Amino acid sequence: MSSGVVARRGKARRIPIHRTLPRFITNPYAVLDEVGREAGGEVVRLNLGLFRPYLLTHPDHVQRVLRDNADNYIRGGRFWRPLRHLFGDGILGEDGSGWEHSRKTLQPSFTRKYVDSLLDRIGDAVRAGVAELDGPARSGTPLDVGEEMRRIVSRTAVEVLFADKISAVDARRVVDAVDTIGTSVVLRMSLGVTAKSIPVPGDRAYWRAVRTVEEVVVPLVRQAQRGPAEGTDIIALLSRARGADGRELTDAQVRDDIVAMFVTANETTTVVLTWLWPVLEANPDVARQVHEEVDRVVGGRPIGQSEVADLRYTQAVLDELLRLYPAAWVFPRLVRRADVVGGIPIKGGSTVFVSPFVTHKLKEFWERPAEFDPERFLASRRARLHRYAYFPFGGGPHQCVGRHFFQLKALVIVATILSRYRPALDGGGIPRPAVAASLRPGRRIEMTLSPVERRLAA
Ligand code: HEM
Repeated sequence: MSSGVVARRGKARRIPIHRTLPRFITNPYAVLDEVGREAGGEVVRLNLGLFRPYLLTHPDHVQRVLRDNADNYIRGGRFWRPLRHLFGDGILGEDGSGWEHSRKTLQPSFTRKYVDSLLDRIGDAVRAGVAELDGPARSGTPLDVGEEMRRIVSRTAVEVLFADKISAVDARRVVDAVDTIGTSVVLRMSLGVTAKSIPVPGDRAYWRAVRTVEEVVVPLVRQAQRGPAEGTDIIALLSRARGADGRELTDAQVRDDIVAMFVTANETTTVVLTWLWPVLEANPDVARQVHEEVDRVVGGRPIGQSEVADLRYTQAVLDELLRLYPAAWVFPRLVRRADVVGGIPIKGGSTVFVSPFVTHKLKEFWERPAEFDPERFLASRRARLHRYAYFPFGGGPHQCVGRHFFQLKALVIVATILSRYRPALDGGGIPRPAVAASLRPGRRIEMTLSPVERRLAA
């Protein structure tokens, strides 16, 4: 695809420190947005004081990093190291650790076909979670949107992926701990501090949260090691898995993958679905079309495969939501050997950022990028997109394993809620994002639900 962007030969354009620090720590989104917009797809180098990452936004460049030359752009270095306390060496570990083996173990449970076979279980879990909104809807009590999305998402993940092997109380403890880690780890990541002995603001909450995760997960690891177990849930899967040497996985391997799957299954889906409601409120025409589609396709019935296939506009709304609010907003990679991207030399040992948050809004690749327009994802228009102009789930060897699960679960959650209620929001508009490892709304959002009146068939 021709981008109209001409890469400058020679050196990456440099963005001086006064334009990046300290704003990068307080509002990295604004810095990346501004720099990315000005660069229009060119390679740029940010001066963040102690280190100078390249920002690669052109879809061809993103493709090179994530897919074509992925071996050279690895997960590791100052940004990934602080996460090792949480994720260890499994599927979310640094490259070169146990990642490849974990990926092979977990991937079969996340194919589209397999995830589709979970639809009834997802539907049951979501309906039970959404039914708890009946009371507040009838009494008109305002709800904390983030809190309710978290509750419904977590319940579904625990029931479907972990076959209820984590209690509701423990699931809640981990979800809260991950929430804390997501905010408090950012400074460690930005400063590249990994050693426990070096204190960083937010540390106490960070370490307490890491300990909470351990307390919940260690008994699950024991349970897995008592296996081999029946079933297709993640703990049974890990208990049956064998390492490259044919032996059972070590406790550490099982622990790392349980934590990674629990965190990814909850956090990203929750934050994306929290953005949805203020965005629909700000785009009443889109909201009306979603309500109309859900009423027509779902009505008051359970959601089956044919309903999923027919909820095309609602799916496009979720796609567009992930364009403007990609939960995983930046992926840092460590450059192993020197490379040339778009005519610009990239130094070995440096860091590159690819960011869906920036690329998804470049006017060189998107018409009216600031506008929330789900129709751009309906079949006829989507075909013209560069594969790496839109990459909320990454790409190449690390492409998100949970993307089909997200797509199905999120669709069922939205359609189930809207088949029962109409939302009204607190009037605060679309929030600014908080500075966190995932793209979260920066304030509490309140919503009041009113029950949808349906005429009962005579
Ligand atoms: C809106 C929801 C989601 C978004 C935006 C998202 C995004 C991503 C992205 C961008 C990556 C690639 C990271 C990289 O290249 O370094 C990734 C990887 C991953 N995601 Fe997701 N994800 C979502 C939901 C899920 C769910 C529901 C699960 C699990 C059930 C999941 C499990 C994973 C795992 C295990 C990886 C690591 C894959 C690997 O490195 O091989 N994700 N996700």
